[in-house]
Amino acid sequence: MKGIVFTEFLDLVEDKFGIEMVDKIIEQSKLNSDGVYTAIGTYKFSEMLQLLENLSKNTGISTDDLLLVYAEHFFTVLEESYPGLLATYKDPIEMLSSIEDHIHVEVKKIYPDAELPTFLVEEKSENSLIMLYKSSRAMHHFGLGLMNKTFEHFNSSAKIVLEKIKSDGTEVRFIINKN
Ligand code: HEM
Repeated sequence: MKGIVFTEFLDLVEDKFGIEMVDKIIEQSKLNSDGVYTAIGTYKFSEMLQLLENLSKNTGISTDDLLLVYAEHFFTVLEESYPGLLATYKDPIEMLSSIEDHIHVEVKKIYPDAELPTFLVEEKSENSLIMLYKSSRAMHHFGLGLMNKTFEHFNSSAKIVLEKIKSDGTEVRFIINKN
């Protein structure tokens, strides 16, 4: 997992819960990195999982809810870091249906070692989209947060329903209907 995902995560934890919480979750986790991350580095996903799980234990907020809020923050980072990529799109459904074949393809060019999910478009119309998410990382709520923000970015909104295909969350169907 790319370092930027860790640095932005810890910044948000500091913002919302204070620097003591950052220190606490780092101490409670077994991290090869010792909790020291650079934006361009690459670290084990298991480190993110431990940080999330410890934050969840300490705050009583589920890891899914934490990932949802984190994704909403991460979208603003993407807006600032990759304005050109976002400017390619005029419509949220067009953008979301292009993650697999365009957006994440570009991400792979920038970060060849990025670990990205698969998004398979099952059905698409002007105002609706059904996509299948597949990833061993089961970060579907991170996807949900990014999708919510994608609609907001285009001054729009949508009803998004998640249907778990596998109970461990490694395969999830997103049913998206523009409001
Ligand atoms: C992960 C970039 C848009 C879904 C990531 C990662 C990067 C990235 C750098 C981390 C990879 C790693 O740590 O190795 C971008 C950029 C985008 C974009 C630059 C747009 C300009 C989106 C959108 C979605 C999305 C709109 C909506 C669903 C995900 C998910 C992950 C991810 C779910 C977590 C990894 C996983 O589930 O396996 N993306 N992304 N991305 N991205 Fe994107």
